[in-house]
Amino acid sequence: MEYVVRENREISNGIYRLELEFDEIPMPGQFVMINCGGNTLLKRPFSICDHDADKLTIVYQVKGKGTYNLSKVKSLDTLEVTGPHGHGFDVFDKFNNILVIGGGVGIPPLLFLSKKLKAKNLKIALGFKSNVFLVDEFQKYGDVIVTSEDGNTGMKGYITDAIKDDIKNIDIIYGCGPKQMLKAVKDIAEKYDVPCQISVEEHMGCGIGACMTCACETKADVGFHYKKVCQDGPVFWAKEVVL
Ligand code: FES
Repeated sequence: MEYVVRENREISNGIYRLELEFDEIPMPGQFVMINCGGNTLLKRPFSICDHDADKLTIVYQVKGKGTYNLSKVKSLDTLEVTGPHGHGFDVFDKFNNILVIGGGVGIPPLLFLSKKLKAKNLKIALGFKSNVFLVDEFQKYGDVIVTSEDGNTGMKGYITDAIKDDIKNIDIIYGCGPKQMLKAVKDIAEKYDVPCQISVEEHMGCGIGACMTCACETKADVGFHYKKVCQDGPVFWAKEVVL
């Protein structure tokens, strides 16, 4: 499907916000595949940062030819988009004390999730390398802690270190970010025996379960087996995934 671009602008150093007209209803944690134009052949996966009525928001980092092309798109241009794809986060009514934790470009999909969670106590922990983005929007939904690796904003250090003492009363953790961060989140969840869902990032080809580019190792009743991040995920229970 072709969708009309409403806005595409830089919101932080190399981080862009793209708003599209979109008539599907996504769940938090799902993604869309976008043809970024130029001579890039394959569509690229982009997590959904927000959805409101007929508007879809993607927040992405320019880090290659495809995303560079995407950054040049203007309002009223059209983009070929498929989706929403994948299995997103499960939103439960029964949990009141929730921790949402994200790192770097893994942070955007957690905004849509935070909006959908109806927890009495929502803690949102965001870790950046240096420049921050979306923090003011997260503040609408919960108490936000920010860290940056260089100390530019918030506490200096890793977000997983900043939340270690806050886990005891948490009913469920949701995480998205780089593999090392997810590994630390998974370890913390296991140590305190807290259920935890994480969104896993893998290279994708087709985005619809046909090519196996995105296979990830998961635990089975006996041994291990492979699941497709694009179809079975990108969100998995942390205890299921091998990181
Ligand atoms: Fe092709 Fe997942 S990207 S199977």
